[in-house]
Amino acid sequence: MDKKKINCLSSAISIHNLSKTYASGFVALNNIDLEIYHGEIFALLGPNGAGKTTLINIICGIVTPSEGTIMVDGHNTLTAFRAARSRIGLVPQELSTAAFESVLNTVNFSRGLFGKASNPTYIEKILRELSLWDKRHEKIVALSGGMKRRLLIAKALSHEPQILFLDEPSAGVDVKLRRDMWLMVRRLRENGVTIILTTHYIEEAEEMADRIGIINNGEIIMVENKAILMNKLGKKQLALTLQNPLSTLPSELEKFNLSFSDGGKVLIYTYDAQQEQTGIPELLQQLGEHGIDFKDLNTSESSLEDIFVSLVKEK
Ligand SMILES: Nc1ncnc2c1ncn2[C@@H]1O[C@H](COP(=O)(O)OP(=O)(O)OP(=O)(O)O)[C@@H](O)[C@H]1O
Ligand SMILES: [Mg+2]
Repeated sequence: MDKKKINCLSSAISIHNLSKTYASGFVALNNIDLEIYHGEIFALLGPNGAGKTTLINIICGIVTPSEGTIMVDGHNTLTAFRAARSRIGLVPQELSTAAFESVLNTVNFSRGLFGKASNPTYIEKILRELSLWDKRHEKIVALSGGMKRRLLIAKALSHEPQILFLDEPSAGVDVKLRRDMWLMVRRLRENGVTIILTTHYIEEAEEMADRIGIINNGEIIMVENKAILMNKLGKKQLALTLQNPLSTLPSELEKFNLSFSDGGKVLIYTYDAQQEQTGIPELLQQLGEHGIDFKDLNTSESSLEDIFVSLVKEK
């Protein structure tokens, strides 16, 4: 492999200085820099209107950027659009497909658009994986919403892309399809496909993603390895259910920053799980010394959702 190719291997998508101001004057993206690495599952999280779809649509050439550059496998999306786009499969957020075509024709047509020779075996394989094979002769109008979504995935995969975008793939999808879809995503990744997804189901990102990007008001506010993010920002809580409800605490306990919940029945201690010393033994000892008895205790860890909500709120 030549040197140029090796250099390209690290980043599947390289975004520099990307901004988008819509004709209305609305700034949807503001100076985005982002690298997506080959073979990773990258989850882009952000509230409604944060700019996720705008970003994806710019990378896929559906929306034009106001400023900045995007390289897809080393191909500039503006000056080498066909080469860049052919590497990408897009499962869009909105359903829009020619209603009166059959499933099979639609998927074959999508493949053809990318100048790929037909490959009935491959198309059959993806339609079977998506449980659409039995529906291959149906017209699209006759499909249910979930089936239409499966079809969008089949279309996106029709030309064997190396990079797959899934924009809100779980919206309106039943549990079985969601599970099938994530199995498929994992399989694709095992075959070297890079996956970028947006989702409002944060537990999904928590389960699937290698890295997480958080976008808010058109700005990327954090990009981090998921495990590091959860370690760094995750807090643990110890909740003690008291024998007798309390409303105040002895001043010696102030340093623990305790709080009450459930009308004084539960005492909550929040601590950093990364610290060498959690402070728990000392807390329990001091509670004992002050005659504060508890009848139950449990610990909990903040989820990615808690972290996400607090980050977006902070900004
Ligand atoms: N064509 C357009 N013209 C003007 N403003 C637009 C256009 N498309 C999107 N916007 C605005 O840009 C912002 C970002 O929209 P975008 O669709 O990228 O958000 P999103 O993060 O995908 O949200 P969601 O989670 O709801 O899908 C929104 O405020 C939206 O109203
Ligand atoms: Mg969107």
